[in-house]
Amino acid sequence: MSINEVRWLSECGSTNAYAKEHFEEFGPVGAVYTTNQTAGRGRLGRSWVNAEGRALYYTAVIREPLAQPATLPLLASLAVRDQLAQRYGVDCQIKWPNDLLLNGKKIVGILCESVSYGYQMQGRGIVCGIGINLAQPQSYFDAANLPNGTSLELQGAKVDLAADPQWLAEALTDFGFDRPLYTFAREGFAPFRDEYKAACVNLGRHVTFDLPGGGTGSGTAIDVDADGRLIVRTDSGEEKIFTGEVSVHGIYGAVEISHHSRVSAGRPAPGALFFSPCEVCGKPGFSHGFPHMVFAGQRLWKTPAPKIPEGRGAFAPSAKRRRK
Ligand code: BTN
Repeated sequence: MSINEVRWLSECGSTNAYAKEHFEEFGPVGAVYTTNQTAGRGRLGRSWVNAEGRALYYTAVIREPLAQPATLPLLASLAVRDQLAQRYGVDCQIKWPNDLLLNGKKIVGILCESVSYGYQMQGRGIVCGIGINLAQPQSYFDAANLPNGTSLELQGAKVDLAADPQWLAEALTDFGFDRPLYTFAREGFAPFRDEYKAACVNLGRHVTFDLPGGGTGSGTAIDVDADGRLIVRTDSGEEKIFTGEVSVHGIYGAVEISHHSRVSAGRPAPGALFFSPCEVCGKPGFSHGFPHMVFAGQRLWKTPAPKIPEGRGAFAPSAKRRRK
């Protein structure tokens, strides 16, 4: 039995929406999951198609303040990668910032969203939604027009639909999020950077990305920095791309990147508030969700995030590690 609540729903519109609605019912770390998600949401306003029992739809609830919340999607991709390796022995690659690929095709998508809660909505939290393609047949991807998608089963993994969703949901919550959060909450992405870079498929490859004023840029992805940004060497210098999607030549087809997801150069102005306007389109920061908050200050709090004491109980590393 997990010390963190991992709530199962037989069916759900969106586990992210559910987690936001029920946010305060969960502890510092908790989760909700289903295998039947009827109104799933993807990144950049896309939908996430239901696979009726053949995929896992999971959302982690993080109520604790994080030193670098904008990089949670990158941590999440490592968390899922690790648990899929444990369960199935597969070696996934990460397509920056947080898609997981197996044999060059997407098997996992991640959508993090911020949450305001509590007295005068001053509390700041995050939900981290993860869709894992477990055992959809090829006909599912064909019908949904997802030529770059695949499932673990299609790639040869032995999937047990009766047991794996619960196992993965509990393992992700306890070992994917709770345990690393002990470090991540205080130190951010930097301690995980080397592990991330080793799994990142973009590095050393030619990539294409949208420019904020229109058009596209391209170059060679050379690094992921301590703030989680993809560093791309172009003919005109280095670009620091914060979050969004870039096409990776030779992996699969080009996909767009939201202009709200890109920082043109350097860090946002010190002290900028998360509801400052987007520096590209001028819309209020929170109106487009998580990436905007990244734009406007790389933090989710109006005041500096509280310091997190050493050895905080909720994120103390768990002693147990349950395995198949
Ligand atoms: C992407 O577009 O790649 C991200 C997809 C994220 C889908 C997951 S499934 C669980 C959670 N609930 C949602 O509505 N979306 C996320």
